[in-house]
Amino acid sequence: MIQFQNVSFSYDSAQSVVENLSFTIGKGETVGLIGANGAGKSTIMKLLLGLIQGQGEITVDGLPLNKQNIPAIRQKIGFVLQDSDNQMFMPTVYEDMIFGPRNYGLSKEETERRVDDVLNRLGLSELKHRYNHKISGGEKRMAAIATILAMEPEMILMDEPSTALDPVNRRTVINTIRQLPQTKLIASHDLDMILDTCQRVILLSHGNIVADGDAEAILRDKALLEANRMELPFCLQGYPH
Ligand SMILES: Nc1ncnc2c1ncn2[C@@H]1O[C@H](COP(=O)(O)OP(=O)(O)O)[C@@H](O)[C@H]1O
Ligand SMILES: [Mg+2]
Repeated sequence: MIQFQNVSFSYDSAQSVVENLSFTIGKGETVGLIGANGAGKSTIMKLLLGLIQGQGEITVDGLPLNKQNIPAIRQKIGFVLQDSDNQMFMPTVYEDMIFGPRNYGLSKEETERRVDDVLNRLGLSELKHRYNHKISGGEKRMAAIATILAMEPEMILMDEPSTALDPVNRRTVINTIRQLPQTKLIASHDLDMILDTCQRVILLSHGNIVADGDAEAILRDKALLEANRMELPFCLQGYPH
């Protein structure tokens, strides 16, 4: 579904942020992307969306990522970027949520049904007609997630989805992710959430893959995590006597 082949990228020519990166994510996989601040997680998401261009080859669902294919590729991917402020561009949550489905030709009735269904599922019905500039950071994050779910994309990218969420919203997002059948790539420092949602983890350090494999095996590896500026998920830390 997603393939990176020898992908390199630098924001300024001095130092590459991602170097010769290769990995494949299969259809239906849920993959956690972890690593220290600055490891390159968000950069990988932006490369995948064609927001930035590097060297090497990226393929999404068999389509090589290039200028002609970017619109078709974006249509397949629902994404919540790290800064969801930039993502909501209509005045209200409702208008943002209907924008994608209506644009893709879904009927008014079907769109309404989807929007209400997603808001219900996320416990956000109260947010429906609120103004985007008058809701909190966490509410905005939830609204951004609701917006991509209403589009029912083939693939979902989430960059730090649990940041700024209260425990109830965080748990709702975790349960929702677990129920979504789509291919998903989730970047996060919240390793408990990654453990709860992902079967596979890719661990990055300075733009290189340090480990790629079974989520639980990697997330239980205290030495590996600590060598990469992370800690065991809280649920695996055990209680002090
Ligand atoms: N717009 C930018 N211009 C220059 N450097 C950037 C920019 N965005 C990120 N970087 C640098 O690229 C590296 C990787 O950043 P990023 O992908 O955002 O890391 P992560 O999401 O893993 O925290 C960091 O060293 C960061 O400082
Ligand atoms: Mg980031």
